[in-house]
Amino acid sequence: MQTLHDPARRGFASDNYSGVHPEVLAAIVQANGGHQTAYGADDYTARLQQVVRGHFGEQAEAFPVFNGTGANVVALQSLLPRWGAVVAARSAHINVDEGGAPERVGGMKLLTVETPDGKLTPELIDREAWGYGDEHRAQPLAVSITQSTELGTLYTPDEIAAIAEHAHAKGMLLHVDGARLANAAVALDAPFRAFTTDAGVDILSLGGTKNGAMGAEAVVTLSPGAGEGLVYLRKLNMQLASKMRFISAQLIALFEGELWHENAAHANAMAARLRAAVEQLPGVSFAYPTQSNGVFARLPEGVADRVRDAFFFYDWDASAREVRWMCTWDTAEADVDAFAAAVREAVGA
Ligand SMILES: Cc1ncc(COP(=O)(O)O)c(C=O)c1O
Repeated sequence: MQTLHDPARRGFASDNYSGVHPEVLAAIVQANGGHQTAYGADDYTARLQQVVRGHFGEQAEAFPVFNGTGANVVALQSLLPRWGAVVAARSAHINVDEGGAPERVGGMKLLTVETPDGKLTPELIDREAWGYGDEHRAQPLAVSITQSTELGTLYTPDEIAAIAEHAHAKGMLLHVDGARLANAAVALDAPFRAFTTDAGVDILSLGGTKNGAMGAEAVVTLSPGAGEGLVYLRKLNMQLASKMRFISAQLIALFEGELWHENAAHANAMAARLRAAVEQLPGVSFAYPTQSNGVFARLPEGVADRVRDAFFFYDWDASAREVRWMCTWDTAEADVDAFAAAVREAVGA
């Protein structure tokens, strides 16, 4: 096969536009050859359990899956009875970017709340956490938050602990969509467990793909009460990989050593570099702080389209002329500098 794409073409559209980290590819090759039991009873998935326990505590259990939408649907389904509902931010990926899968495939109701910065608080949760015992209302029995959020913002460990305490007091369980958990850990300079297990999170969607994997995520149960029936739900939701060793090998490559940290630290640093380079430009403003690997900028009329001729990126909120620029593990300093120069030129600075 010939290379069909231009590897020199770069963009800021998504942390999924980057390829696979060479060490992850090498891990897949290393796990190849011979025969291993299918569906997760293999040596790599067993090793992954040890790696995950090292990060999240001895009670943690990992269920590798193909993608983040699947991880979220499976995780949330395992928390809820048939009549259950999930309280989430309106901007949550489960609400805006999963094609309705939580509702249509997972069969749960989402109760969403407008937030200023993509973050829930106990007060915001209470806007929807009511109506217990009312047969006319789907019962709010889970909360889902995203760390780092879809808007590039971060929860502190204390903020997550306060949400967990509040949720548990109301009989709800707490799910974290951690598609970018590594970026959050780096930004907080904290171990994973400080803002998951130790903060009272019950179940986690742990992201690998945005951090350099080819397609590897895992549902991780953190509390003893979470994850009932997960093995059955994963299959039922078509997220059970037969050749699971290759998903597990990717996650081992990222999380066994420091690769996850290096990749996320680099992506976060590139986002900070980009923000600093465009922050002072005339007419450019920002609705949120840049706390992980995404920059959300509001641009003067016409600027986004002029820059988009040379670089990929998406509008985030076209009505506010807001765009989203994502950095990833292989974003180079030169990419950022060339992109910032293109923005500078487009605004006429
Ligand atoms: C916050 C968040 N959750 C989950 C996902 C995973 O989505 P996918 O199903 O595309 O792997 C993404 C990817 O864009 C995301 O940004």
